[in-house]
Amino acid sequence: MAIFEWHGELAPGLQRDARGGLIIAGVSTEQLVREFGSPLVTINMALLRARTEALQTSANASGVSVSYSAKAMITPSLARFFVEHGMGIDVCSLGELAVAERAGIPASHLTLHGSGKSDLELMAAVDGRVGRIVVDDVLELVALHDCASSAGRIVDVVVRCTLSDAPHTHKAITTSGDETKFGISARDRPTAWQFLRESSSLRFSGVHAHAGSQIYDLPSYTSVVDALVECLTEAAEVGLVADYAIAGGGFGVRMHPFAGPDSLDVPTTLRAMALRFGTACRERGLPTPILGIEPGRSVIADAGTTLYRIQAVKQQERHRFIIVDGGLCDNPRPALYDAYHHVVAATARSGERAPAIVCGRSCENDELARVELPSDLLPGDLLAVCTTGAYTYSMASNYNRFGRPAIVSVDDDGVTVMTRRETLDDLLRLDR
Ligand SMILES: Cc1ncc(COP(=O)(O)O)c(C=O)c1O
Repeated sequence: MAIFEWHGELAPGLQRDARGGLIIAGVSTEQLVREFGSPLVTINMALLRARTEALQTSANASGVSVSYSAKAMITPSLARFFVEHGMGIDVCSLGELAVAERAGIPASHLTLHGSGKSDLELMAAVDGRVGRIVVDDVLELVALHDCASSAGRIVDVVVRCTLSDAPHTHKAITTSGDETKFGISARDRPTAWQFLRESSSLRFSGVHAHAGSQIYDLPSYTSVVDALVECLTEAAEVGLVADYAIAGGGFGVRMHPFAGPDSLDVPTTLRAMALRFGTACRERGLPTPILGIEPGRSVIADAGTTLYRIQAVKQQERHRFIIVDGGLCDNPRPALYDAYHHVVAATARSGERAPAIVCGRSCENDELARVELPSDLLPGDLLAVCTTGAYTYSMASNYNRFGRPAIVSVDDDGVTVMTRRETLDDLLRLDR
């Protein structure tokens, strides 16, 4: 669909007006920043709606259930939006759970994840604040059982399994395989199955595997499906019957207009996964549980664009540096794992394109990107950093005591603040 396509160097959902200024969902970026300040995280709701609906259509066609992974980006209004579109919500901390609760999401729609969960998080599951908990460790299973049995409650448990193969993606966003901390390994799974069989406080609800993020190849997903079937088989051998087999998220998103992989074709991937899963379950004589996915990035990444005001343009001996009024604190991805986010001028400028290093204003060498930008950009002009809906704001920090930006949704009927900008008072409120 055209709405999902890049146009030249403009990411999906971005356009230029007649004078060359950048617009998002029909609204001028200059106007957005004038009204809401900068840096500013914008969410293009038409694009997000189209993505969500397309995903739900293909998931329904393949009989796959979808739970949105809140860690990519969550606000109460986003949580409501996803649930209204038929998704559940995956949370991985009390903070994410609190956001979902503030949005009024029923517990039955929530799944609690996380490795190294706190006692309070285990208690949230015991208290029925989530529909199910994904257990990442055998000792966690034991601790959960103890909490549940002293409270006289029964908790639905999904077992996260380690995959033996790692996917083809960056080490920092690989979440499976023997080199990572995630999930219960093949060595320990028999203990987990036996424990679940004997626990009167834990109800086995299913199996889970998540390979990693920014995965662009179908074979990584068929490996996940095969691993899930293996785990279902092991569980069935001790009499445990699953309702769900959850294959994680990780569907790769295109980040560069001219290079690098295109976004993974999610409908084709889901069809292939569902077919392989159904066939394998039948061949092994297993009842076929519901196949689930929990995407984050592929749902929201390209609906997000971050606008920055240029603070300084410095021609050093070898490079032109463009310093913007945000950076590492609102988007640590380039610094953390060399993630590429394309950058375009949002202010209309007609100069020849020339190389530039776009930096944030932190006291680090915090490059956001190396790109070609008009040679006549000046302090005060705006830049737009593309594809920032996922894992930018949600990973933001207060390094250098910068406040986190506002998030606004831009829709046909106007612009709405989803999360307000952090003020100096916010930054000082914890100090004594
Ligand atoms: C367990 C789990 N599920 C789902 C996701 C979502 O991945 P993505 O945003 O790449 O779709 C993550 C991301 O790290 C995860 O850890």
